[in-house]
Amino acid sequence: MTETAKLDDESYRIAMGRLLVMYTQVDYLIMRACAERIATAPNDEIRIMLGKQVGDESKHVRIQHEWMDRFGTDRTPVFSEQQQDLFLQHFRSLDWLDFLTDMYVCVEALGSEAVEQIVPMADPGTRESLRTPLEDEVDHVAFGLEQLKRELAKLPEQQRIEYLDTIASRLDFLKNTLHGLGIDIPSMFAAVGADYQQVVEHVLERRAEILQSLALPLAA
Ligand SMILES: [Fe+2]
Ligand SMILES: [Fe+2]
Repeated sequence: MTETAKLDDESYRIAMGRLLVMYTQVDYLIMRACAERIATAPNDEIRIMLGKQVGDESKHVRIQHEWMDRFGTDRTPVFSEQQQDLFLQHFRSLDWLDFLTDMYVCVEALGSEAVEQIVPMADPGTRESLRTPLEDEVDHVAFGLEQLKRELAKLPEQQRIEYLDTIASRLDFLKNTLHGLGIDIPSMFAAVGADYQQVVEHVLERRAEILQSLALPLAA
């Protein structure tokens, strides 16, 4: 489909609109979860980084809202109030190590990997609206994975190996939760012209890459 044809295509606009609403809601929730975490973060350096991220996510939400207005997107939330509360409660309940895993491996790294896969299919305006957010996500992921490595390095080897094994199951849990919420990601992706299976493969590759890098000892 050409780019102009896409913009004329109502089903593309609706599906891309839903993905944009979902992405923006996730950014908003990340902003809130990270803001809450500042109070109990292990040290000042981390507090400063979380503060920066909160600012970045707030900027992303702003950019996306402005773009959705111009794009004429239906802003009906994908995630209900109750689901948003569950997300925040989930992050509140985690210790620092699990927070790092769920926030930076599951949500930030793999979430932005999925969004990256959508970018080539998107119309120019949507693509532009995702540019700054995706650039910033690279910093957030780098920060999160670095901190995760540091925390893992504090664990005895056996415990570290066991923890790495649980990361895969934490990801499956996340995937099942989305499925359980009745959010049909495959058809949303298909409607914007993305091959869902291919997106999944990319995300799995990225996951394997992250797990491998986490298994390596910390660079001195
Ligand atoms: Fe973001
Ligand atoms: Fe982020």
